[in-house]
Amino acid sequence: MKPAFYITTPIYYVNDVPHIGHAYTTLACDVLARYKRAKGYEVFFLTGTDEHGQKVEKAAQTKGETPLELADRVMKRFQALWEKLNIDNSDFIRTTQERHKKGVSHLFTLLKEKGDIYLGEYEDWYCTPCETFWTETQLMDGNCPDCGRPTDKLKEESYFFRMSQYQDALLKHIEANPDFIQPRSRRNEILSFIREGLRDLSISRTSFSWGIPVPGDERHVIYVWFDALSNYITALGYPDDPDGNYGRFWPVDAHVIGKDILRFHSVYWPTFLLAAGLPLPKKVFAHGWWTVEGQKMSKSLANVVEPNMLVDKYGVDAIRYFLLREVPFGLDGDFSHAALVHRINSDLANDLGNLVSRSTAMVNKYFDGVLPAPEENTPVDEQLIEQFQLAIWGIDNTVSNLMFNKALQNMWELVSASNKYIDTTAPWSLAKNPDDRGRLSTVMYNLLEGTRLIALLIKPFMPETGGKILSILGCSPELEIGGHEQWGGLTPGIQIEKAAPLFPRIENND
Ligand code: MSP
Repeated sequence: MKPAFYITTPIYYVNDVPHIGHAYTTLACDVLARYKRAKGYEVFFLTGTDEHGQKVEKAAQTKGETPLELADRVMKRFQALWEKLNIDNSDFIRTTQERHKKGVSHLFTLLKEKGDIYLGEYEDWYCTPCETFWTETQLMDGNCPDCGRPTDKLKEESYFFRMSQYQDALLKHIEANPDFIQPRSRRNEILSFIREGLRDLSISRTSFSWGIPVPGDERHVIYVWFDALSNYITALGYPDDPDGNYGRFWPVDAHVIGKDILRFHSVYWPTFLLAAGLPLPKKVFAHGWWTVEGQKMSKSLANVVEPNMLVDKYGVDAIRYFLLREVPFGLDGDFSHAALVHRINSDLANDLGNLVSRSTAMVNKYFDGVLPAPEENTPVDEQLIEQFQLAIWGIDNTVSNLMFNKALQNMWELVSASNKYIDTTAPWSLAKNPDDRGRLSTVMYNLLEGTRLIALLIKPFMPETGGKILSILGCSPELEIGGHEQWGGLTPGIQIEKAAPLFPRIENND
């Protein structure tokens, strides 16, 4: 049986339309999911939409729709964008689906029966846009410390989860599992937050009604984070499917999220799971945030980057490449059109594009497109081959550890090494001398074989481009790196096409 691999994106709020930040998280998950599939794992890749809560209720009101109408409309936009970005998810969960509501009610009832949920009264400062209560000391000049907007003092009857009970168990788990929260700097932040002391958590609301009712007390709806976080198991069929997807895929290999929602994933969620006696996620990875041309992305600044428009203008693979190449995953980064155009022109059109067009043009010119069999390798060839083998091994490690930009950097070192190999071996001179025919065959073979491996490596990042290069090389575009990573995969005698430019240069910079 194939090994299992489970990866999730956050589920996206439907009160906002998809932007580059959402696309970023989903893309990163897609790359890892594709890579693991290529390496022979059975992958479950989950994404979806977070459709309950006051924010959605309010957004629907202002639009004159019911919350469900709003959710239906916006979730389609997410789905359409994922299709356009070539996202190959296994499932799409909506928190308004029956399977989800059922699982959440079950979890709530389970914890209540255990005595970990009790009815109490809550009074604190509430930030409506963030749907978060803050203590007096957490406020910044009376405002929400996350978004800076005013907060209201609210008192309401509420069900509480005994989060305080799980403080020690959670601390122990984080200390014993150094890779549980990544990157490291974020782990330290969370450790100090927990060490300050965990309070019990209010997990129901009576102030609005768009949510899952508290089982047995319908005046309350379940707090949106308890509802939302549970999607990671309800989508697997929890609690009804212990021998199906739940049994196969839980605990999750990686929850990939943005840094703003790390506390919910590395404190709240694990304590819910501890209380329910369920295994904890293997990894929670918080990536950084994108600014746009140096500024925070916001509706009021009208600088929200719309991914559909980018794909139409530059192509899906260019966007997939740029977002994961530009910034180390885990750090903040800045999106600018100039940087995007620069990457397309230099890395894609120039480095990769030239390698493919030069190598396929030469084999067509010197061998009528028929791949020659290599003869004896010289040290220059051995060095190239060794560089490929080392890189393939290293890239397995970097991709698996979500170091996407490093992985791409390593792939482009192979592109440069191959371009350099052309310059060093100078096939055009070899072609002039019939005595060098054997040497020319070796050079052509190595060059095209390296290009095949590059195509396989980039495929999870750029599925179309990887597939296209493979077809040009006479291979099946379905070929994957797993099982085909050995040097020497190309069969001499196959017909190689002369490639048209893969990425046209972008001349004007608007
Ligand atoms: N619904 C919650 C998540 C529940 S998960 C159980 C939520 N939704 S969200 O739509 O607001 O955000 C989803 C993701 O988008 C978060 O991981 C967030 O970090 C990410 N981004 C939103 N803006 C972003 C940037 N400007 N840059 C990068 N990612 C950003 O939170």
